[in-house]
Amino acid sequence: MPEQTFLMIKPDGVKRKLVGDILIRLEKKGLKIAAMKMLQITKELAELHYNEHRGKEFYEELIEFITSGPVVAIVLEGEGIVKIIRNFAGKTNPKEADCGTIRGDYAFDITQNVIHTSDSISSAQREIINFFKKSEILSNTEG
Ligand SMILES: Nc1ncnc2c1ncn2[C@@H]1O[C@H](COP(=O)(O)OP(=O)(O)OP(=O)(O)O)[C@@H](O)[C@H]1O
Ligand SMILES: [Mg+2]
Repeated sequence: MPEQTFLMIKPDGVKRKLVGDILIRLEKKGLKIAAMKMLQITKELAELHYNEHRGKEFYEELIEFITSGPVVAIVLEGEGIVKIIRNFAGKTNPKEADCGTIRGDYAFDITQNVIHTSDSISSAQREIINFFKKSEILSNTEG
């Protein structure tokens, strides 16, 4: 199976109408989108997705924010895609995110930071299963 990663445009990115811009950047880089859908995350899914952060001081705010409006969930695939998409997002703290990255260019807040990206191949596999059925992922197709 090709390497896959999970990218999610968070509620602030959708509200601020940055979806098109983000998709243009992904497509212009020539990356393969294997799955994509818009959804409103339930509290249960949010808790599953952010399980590693349970108990941290920002956890409640994070769950409230990620369930506050629609998100766009995307699976990308290709060699080295996890690292490529981490670089595309930029550092978590927007003050440290380089210009040219999504957070560097569009985010000023550590919670409302426009996109989520998987931090490793194993995280990606776990996160993708939470959001997509196998039949929704169009691997091994043109495009
Ligand atoms: N110190 C913090 N204060 C407030 N919110 C934070 C803090 N650290 C992380 N967060 C929030 O929790 C999310 C998950 O944190 P994580 O450490 O996984 O960062 P990340 O991997 O860069 O971001 P993401 O998982 O959303 O791609 C961050 O995107 C941010 O919204
Ligand atoms: Mg993370």
